[in-house]
Amino acid sequence: MQRIPMIAGNWKMNTTLSEALKLVKEMLPGLEKLEGMEKVLCPPFVSLAAMQNLLRGTSLKLGAQNLYYAEKGAYTGEISAPMLAELCDYVIVGHSERRHIFGETDSMVNKKVQAALKVHLLPIICVGEKLEENEAGRTREVVTGQLKAALDGVSEAGELVIAYEPVWAIGTGKAATGRQANETVALIRSTILGLYGEKTAHNVRILYGGSVTPANILEYMKQPQIDGALVGGASIKAIDFFSIVSQTAEMGKKCE
Ligand code: PGA
Repeated sequence: MQRIPMIAGNWKMNTTLSEALKLVKEMLPGLEKLEGMEKVLCPPFVSLAAMQNLLRGTSLKLGAQNLYYAEKGAYTGEISAPMLAELCDYVIVGHSERRHIFGETDSMVNKKVQAALKVHLLPIICVGEKLEENEAGRTREVVTGQLKAALDGVSEAGELVIAYEPVWAIGTGKAATGRQANETVALIRSTILGLYGEKTAHNVRILYGGSVTPANILEYMKQPQIDGALVGGASIKAIDFFSIVSQTAEMGKKCE
């Protein structure tokens, strides 16, 4: 079985509801035609319900950018996994901006992963080292540490998605090279192998994220271990996102 490539667009804190609808209407006709891969849009929470209506019956899927791990209750301002499960298929968990701006710890990431899986919401778990960790040769240790912590107590991992996003590459224009990214993604896959065995390691999809553009997407997609990309900045530019997705779809066809 071959892993199905995935491109997910993380819109971050961009687009009002009307802007989101305008953007998705602009993107939809082109993206809709591209086959053989999974296409996921992750807009801000406030646009999920309206986008769900627009995307119903299309080949595009929806994801959220975060969740809180309690099921319900007195957590003013938070959004739970059951709330999201009615709206989308995926949820990004442990994005570096959550970890570093909002102080999310490995243990919170783990609780979020468990909360999502409990309601069949598939987490896209982000891991990645900071610049100083990379320069100190600690990438391996940081990435495997984050991964093992995120998956602590998780019994099935075949369906979830992991995104390797070196913090120094996010929004900086300084993307990792294909080789660098492939090496760390291979390390992630071998960590999964150690935790869950061969079948899960073979099935789990691992994306690269960090300054992915139409100009460099193929460099990642050519790598044997990389199954797609988590795209930030370029995902809110209709032409760029279409180009990233169409190049991936084209490449997917060649592999069949
Ligand atoms: P970027 O963001 O593509 O703008 O670097 C990636 C991400 O944060 O997921």
